Amino acid sequence: MAKARKSAANGNGKTPAKKAGGKPVIYVLNGPNLNMLGLRQPEIYGRATLADVEKLCQKAGDRLGLSIDFRQSNLEGELVTWIQQARTKAAGIVLNAGAYTHTSVALLDALNAAEKPCVEVHLSNIHRRENFRHHSYISLAAVGMIAGFGPKGYVLALEALADIV
Ligand code: DQA
Repeated sequence: MAKARKSAANGNGKTPAKKAGGKPVIYVLNGPNLNMLGLRQPEIYGRATLADVEKLCQKAGDRLGLSIDFRQSNLEGELVTWIQQARTKAAGIVLNAGAYTHTSVALLDALNAAEKPCVEVHLSNIHRRENFRHHSYISLAAVGMIAGFGPKGYVLALEALADIV
């Protein structure tokens, strides 16, 4: 049963990437402007900083037996490179692509090439916001999406991935 779910999520049934310690590695990738969390539009994104979000993820990773590799970039190409790396280096991906969510065919292509389960995360509920935020290219390649729960969404995404990887 667990095997069948893994194959469906991975798309290829490949052995997930693990660290020397044997824990599945999860890339938690953050896109543009997420380095500004805590300062940026707190009425929408809250007061937690990206360092706070990373701490939450590390704590959840310890609890769930996952090894968390947490990164942020403002550059689309760097995010593409990291998603490509996930093909061999990670068992799954949590991705908050920021504004690239709504624009980037390149990130979608990278996710399809990586063939690893991806959970899409947004701090805000993108469906309660401007129309241009309602469409996500990432969703086409994601197992699921969590939006609107602030930093807790990252923890929920890790819990979902822990059942898949
Ligand atoms: C976001 C939502 C995006 O629309 C926005 O461009 C972001 C953050 C979120 O986490 O709510 O940068 O991904």
